[in-house]
Amino acid sequence: MEQAEAIERAMIEELEQAIVVKSVIYTSGQRDPRGPVQRPANPSNKRYMMGHDPRLPRMPEKPTVLDYFTHRFGPTQHLLQSARLAQKNGASEKIVLACLLHDIATAGLIRGDHGYWSAQLVEPYVDPEVSWAIRYHQALRFYADESVGYQYPDSYRRLFGPDYRPEPYIERDYQHARNHPWYMSARLICVNDLYAFDQNVRVELEEFTDIVGRHFKQPEEGLGFDASPSAHMWRTIMWPTKYL
Ligand SMILES: [Fe+2]
Ligand SMILES: [Fe+2]
Repeated sequence: MEQAEAIERAMIEELEQAIVVKSVIYTSGQRDPRGPVQRPANPSNKRYMMGHDPRLPRMPEKPTVLDYFTHRFGPTQHLLQSARLAQKNGASEKIVLACLLHDIATAGLIRGDHGYWSAQLVEPYVDPEVSWAIRYHQALRFYADESVGYQYPDSYRRLFGPDYRPEPYIERDYQHARNHPWYMSARLICVNDLYAFDQNVRVELEEFTDIVGRHFKQPEEGLGFDASPSAHMWRTIMWPTKYL
């Protein structure tokens, strides 16, 4: 108890010493991004946040993708259930991994165009077919494929209204995916995505440790500290309030 209080106190002190400025994207819409930047008062004893945010759990020194699941992502049951369903349906390990990772942008970074963001995050570390499938599940979700029993999601009718039509770039990417040799891999993400909101199913992350170990190339320096084209995106998830 005493130790917990000490940690809490240290955290508050650390935070009191740091100035947090929210990135434009956090507030764009709530406020007009073109307006003047509201700078917090900057007394001489305070410094701008340039790394770990003490309000968040500290990441291990050499984080793995699973550490991001446990330390940074919002609820991930949807991803875990999706991967479990793919496994139950006899999908390959690559597809199970794709299902496990297909919405990580929504869970940890940005919602809009989440399939594209998720794919970009994992691209340097997985088989090209895995990131391809994740990228195109975004578009395919909006289009039925009776051959595998996939229908336009009822939930989308509720969420977006019966008249919603995807933008032309989604239609274009759907057409591209439809004629691609890896089409079925992206489609399988959608097929296993459907049930993946079951409140009564509880899946543990540990079930996928082996598959991740076999198919996700963990960088030696830790995910985010390597020099891949998406390493900085992982660092942003790790340090979302870093000033520069
Ligand atoms: Fe998705
Ligand atoms: Fe999903």
